[in-house]
This record gives sequence, structure tokens and C-alpha cells, in this order.
Amino acid sequence: MDRTIASGAVDSGSIPLGDVAERRACMCMRAVFLWDDMGLFIAIIMFLAAFLLLRSEWEKVQLKTDHYEVRTDKLPEGVSKVRLVFVSDLHDYMPARHTPEMITKAIDLVKPDAVILGGDMITVSKSERVPRPETKTALSVISSIAGKYPVFYGEGNHETRLMEKNPEGYASYVSEIFSMGVRYLRDTGAEIPGTGVQVYGVNLSDDFYGRFPGIEKKYEMPERYIEGAIGEADRKNFNVFLIHIPLYLEEAEKAGADLVLSGHYHGGTVRLPDGRGLMTPQYQFFKKECSGEFTYGKAKMIVGRGLGTHSIKIRINDLPQIAVVDITDEGTSKVQN
Ligand SMILES: [Fe+2]
Repeated sequence: MDRTIASGAVDSGSIPLGDVAERRACMCMRAVFLWDDMGLFIAIIMFLAAFLLLRSEWEKVQLKTDHYEVRTDKLPEGVSKVRLVFVSDLHDYMPARHTPEMITKAIDLVKPDAVILGGDMITVSKSERVPRPETKTALSVISSIAGKYPVFYGEGNHETRLMEKNPEGYASYVSEIFSMGVRYLRDTGAEIPGTGVQVYGVNLSDDFYGRFPGIEKKYEMPERYIEGAIGEADRKNFNVFLIHIPLYLEEAEKAGADLVLSGHYHGGTVRLPDGRGLMTPQYQFFKKECSGEFTYGKAKMIVGRGLGTHSIKIRINDLPQIAVVDITDEGTSKVQN
């Protein structure tokens, strides 16, 4: 059939000029709408990013006190409660509007029997061959606390790194800590005066922290490693183990811990509604041990969110924390309840 038809007629196989123009206009409109949609999408993303960054900046200058309770029948006669304040991961960081006295005041409000420092109070670069530690803020915070309370200090991976890469810098830092009267617990223990509670600092080498960012595998702790480090903890006492990375609760319980205090993950940077952390400073994703309470057998572990930031300087739904831990006599708790 001849598809060429006289002027004015419509050929089903050809497109009239009017239709072409209409179709082009349509495409233009669609492109405009698509562009508008993309523009809207980009605007929403930028708005959200700006909101989250502002929120993070706000959170970093806050200080939240969280309360925990651990019940025990191991407190000596006449002691019904021992109150600890646990802080970790300061990373020598102090927001511009903060002062060491603000931290001391927050601690004063809860009147603890002792303050426990869970490591990484300083920052030590991984990349420098002989790192110069950042310690100025840490020292001023610790000295403002140490004058008022018994202070016990367990190492984090940054203190251990300093010892391994710059022994002189480490010796100088630790001697300043000692001069403040702080009990620096490197594979050793000490009693909180008048409470019967023993605090042990379990030191871990870099191997335990994972050498490769993002790799989830836990470093297997050799059998009886903790006992080899700190000696046999007397199970008649209430024993607090400071283990900076919160992956060794089971091993600690077997070594006689009643309570493990850990930090290291900074709450997971962004805390998801189910309590997991979106990402640790070591680029591990969705870890559940980023913050809060955990139990294994008879032992409890409390993981602090830390005070400062480092590497990824973001905190969302993850306020800097002072943790108050009440070790309470079971009998007293039952009477009170
Ligand atoms: Fe750490």
C-alpha cells in the first residue's frame, strides 16, 4: 500500500510535524520535571547533611550522665554501695566552650567513691614513626579530678601505642600521672580504699584491636591470658576489670571479673535506634558492643561512649558520656525494693 498520501491526509507510518513538536515539548517538560525532582532530591540531601552536621557539632559539646547499677553479695560488711564514675576516650579533646572544671563539676554532682579512667585519654598518631602524644587536655582534666577523688587509670590502645613507639614520651606521661596520685594500672590491680572493691587494668597489645580497618574478626585471646597478665583475682572480692576494647567479657568472667568497664568504640559514632553503632572509629559497622550493658554468666560489662572524638569527629544520637556505676549490696537493694 502506498504510504504517501495527499497533503492533509495522515500516514500511519510517518509523524506529522505538529506531533514532533508536541513530543519534543513533552520531553522538555519531562526533563524539567526530572531536573526539578533531582534538584529537590539534592536539596533534601543537602538539608539533611547540614542538619546532621549541626546536630553533631551540638552533641559534641554536651555532657550526659548515665546511671547503671550492678548488684552483688560480695561487698564487705558495712558497705552497702560503692559508686564509680567511669570515663574513657577523652582523646585529649575539649570543645572550645568546655573546661576541665565542667567535667569535674559533673562528677561532683554524683559524689563518687572513685573515678575510673578507661583509657585513650590521650591521642597518639599511628602514622608517625616516633609519635608526639597529645596529652595537654588529658593532663589538665585528670589533675582536676585527681585532687578530689581516688582515680584509677587503665590503658587504652593509644597509651599502649605510645609505650611501644615512644617509650620516653610514655615514661614522661605516666610519671606526670603518678605525680597526681593516680593509680595507673598496667596489668596490675588496686583496691578502692575502704570498699573492698578491686580494680584491675588489663593491658592489651595492638593485636587485640585488629590491624585492618573494617575487618570484624576478633583476635583470639590465648587461654588464661588475663590471669597471666594480672595474676589470679580473688573471687571472694568484687573485681572490676578495665579492658579497653569491649570484646573480652567472656574471657574476663572466666578470670574472675564481676564487672568489666570498656570503651574504645565511642558509641559507634552514630547510634542507631536499636543501640548498635553505625560505624566505629576503626570502620567497623553495626557493632552491638558500642555502648550500654552486657552480661555473660555472672559478669556484667558496661561500655562507655567516651568523652571526646578522634578520627571520625562525628557524634549523632551519641552524646559524650559520664557513666555512674553503683555497685550495690544485694541485701540492701532487696530491702529498698
Ligand atoms: Fe581506643
